[in-house]
Amino acid sequence: APTGELDSFERTIAADQRIEPRDAMPEDYRRTLVRQIAQHAHSEIIGMQPEGAWLTSAPSLRRKAVLTAKVQDEAGHGIYLYSACETLGVDRADLTQMLVDGRQKYSSIFNYPASSYADVGTIGWLVDGAAICNQVPLCRTSYGPYARAMIRVCKEESFHQRQGYELLQTMMRGTDEQRAMVQESVDRWWWPSLMMFGPPDAESAHTARSMAWGIKRHTNDELRQKFVDMTVPQADALGVTLPDRSLAWDSATGHYRFGQPDWDELARVIKGDGPCNAERVARRRAAHEDGAWVREAAAAFAARGGRVG
Ligand code: ACO
Repeated sequence: APTGELDSFERTIAADQRIEPRDAMPEDYRRTLVRQIAQHAHSEIIGMQPEGAWLTSAPSLRRKAVLTAKVQDEAGHGIYLYSACETLGVDRADLTQMLVDGRQKYSSIFNYPASSYADVGTIGWLVDGAAICNQVPLCRTSYGPYARAMIRVCKEESFHQRQGYELLQTMMRGTDEQRAMVQESVDRWWWPSLMMFGPPDAESAHTARSMAWGIKRHTNDELRQKFVDMTVPQADALGVTLPDRSLAWDSATGHYRFGQPDWDELARVIKGDGPCNAERVARRRAAHEDGAWVREAAAAFAARGGRVG
């Protein structure tokens, strides 16, 4: 873009106003957004898998209806985010191809197995709880279409978080065996949930640049702390123990102190070497290939002006 137009970009960012699709923007700003939004969209779509697996074994019709609604919401979030990404001049078909070829990432958290039914509750409570901490500030991100998409996504995420917490509360009022199931599940999901916020600030490649552009509003470590502060009292109310012996209230800072996740594990999972990476991507690729006839039919239908006969 001509220099004058990029001056206008800088002024808009400095005034904390929104950049819209037709505005001039630096190529790196555009590329950063495509990377983050596509990754975010892929996470929503891949994120349907761990819980989707429990749809046919939900213990009651009510639980099944709630879980179905939740998994459908995730699909909606993905589609919504692909649309936001397309305003930056990319095509969602290419983004999907990059996902199934392993050329674009999705959140590390979805590479862990949902091995018990309690995981449906824990994913809602911890994983969607972490997603809310990360995404509420994105309602004020500097790129207009992404910010607006986040408003609806966050409303639905809070329903997801509550349904998870309510499920765990119900199990905690049940038998000793059910309480043990909840604790075992929380033990497995706690550390991976902390990793969702990304590497520590000192090792985060993109944070400084993304903060300066108003794409990110808080650093990875700030959001991780916010999540811990929000979650510890919820764990107490639930009656579960978070698996971190160094968790302690620090009255001097007004925050909880907590231990560090295994950052080597995060690096391995991001690189593709987590417990379920291969399975998740293979499943996504198979669904994409199985759906080819739907895309062809939709294209043929559109080509004849949307007429059936
Ligand atoms: N899982 C997978 N990859 C990650 C994760 C993670 N938890 N955290 C960081 N990374 C990747 C980054 O994408 C980046 O890789 P890249 O350069 O190849 O894209 C690299 O690790 C370095 O990390 P950062 O410099 O900290 O990256 P960034 O500034 O993009 O911050 C973050 C990462 C916090 C995830 C950011 O992209 C973000 O806020 N994204 C939007 C939210 C989102 O995607 N949520 C998805 C999960 S929530 C849900 O769907 C329920």
